[in-house]
Amino acid sequence: MVRYALTGTPGTGKTTISNALNKKTLHLSELYSKASEEKTTSDEWLIDVEKLNRAFHKKKGDSFIVEGHLSHTLKDVEKVIVLRCDPNILESRMEKRNYSESKIRENLEAEAMGIIYSEAIEIFDRTKVAQLDTTNSTSEQAAEILEQFFEGKVKLDETIDYSERIMGWY
Ligand SMILES: Nc1ncnc2c1ncn2[C@@H]1O[C@H](COP(=O)(O)OP(=O)(O)OP(=O)(O)O)[C@@H](O)[C@H]1O
Ligand SMILES: [Mg+2]
Repeated sequence: MVRYALTGTPGTGKTTISNALNKKTLHLSELYSKASEEKTTSDEWLIDVEKLNRAFHKKKGDSFIVEGHLSHTLKDVEKVIVLRCDPNILESRMEKRNYSESKIRENLEAEAMGIIYSEAIEIFDRTKVAQLDTTNSTSEQAAEILEQFFEGKVKLDETIDYSERIMGWY
């Protein structure tokens, strides 16, 4: 069993934070080419979740963390950490990437609606799903909080709700 899935909307910081942690991590993006047969017109892998699970089983070894926006859909994971970010700040992180405006909007709406958290608590018992808001911290600070969480020194039971952000967009 891999201890933690580190998941969240693109840009919330899964890869950056996991790289700052002192824990063996499997980056799911390494498996996307094995778990997909085609790319979309915007060059994104269309992931087959069954294939992703198979590739994960072969590759997971003794990883402590698996990170990626589909990591909460994997079997053989004990607990989930959902990274969150205020959509207004997430927008500035996304603008540094090559995403189309519609892709950015889609991701900001998903974050405002808490889609990944909702998915995670459908799959896992609520007590196994924690959230960490990365809006007002650096990636190093967020990593430090997670290290303390892994040691049982802090709790991550914040209720995070950015749904009211949507009202300001339309
Ligand atoms: N507190 C923070 N935690 C994590 N990243 C942060 C934080 N503050 C700013 N950032 C910046 O936000 C970006 C997060 O990008 P990153 O690639 O880690 O996201 P991701 O969740 O892995 O996205 P994807 O799902 O597309 O792989 C980086 O440029 C990082 O420097
Ligand atoms: Mg990433």
